[in-house]
Amino acid sequence: MTEIKDLIKRTIALKEKAYTPYSHFRVAAAVKMKSGKIYEGINIENAAYSPTLCAERSALAGAISAGEREIDTIIINGDSEYTYPCGVCRQFIREFADKDTKIIIAKDENSYKTYTIDELLPYSFSKEDLE
Ligand code: THU
Repeated sequence: MTEIKDLIKRTIALKEKAYTPYSHFRVAAAVKMKSGKIYEGINIENAAYSPTLCAERSALAGAISAGEREIDTIIINGDSEYTYPCGVCRQFIREFADKDTKIIIAKDENSYKTYTIDELLPYSFSKEDLE
């Protein structure tokens, strides 16, 4: 699918902007919301370590701040062959994902794997629990 390949290429290029002076492990994410708009993010590390922001949450913070609420597709590309989202990011994605949301772990534009949030975060806690 051309659009997915284009988004993967964008994340690979964006990874150059990752701020990773401590781990030197770069991650980029591109999120397409159900509105069709695309937001991008990179990981942003910090000398105090724990304030480090992952690429997925960086991309989603922009989307949510723009008033978006529903993820259509999120693409993740990092410096390992297939970089999976950390536990915190899985929970963060969960908040704005539904069963149709595509979570794409991309090695490159020709090699990627697609998951649902239930596959990556089974038996999750979510806003439905608070209803
Ligand atoms: N990282 C992400 O950006 N996303 C993840 O889901 C996994 C980890 C970043 C955080 C840190 O800057 C670096 O990768 C090494 O952990």
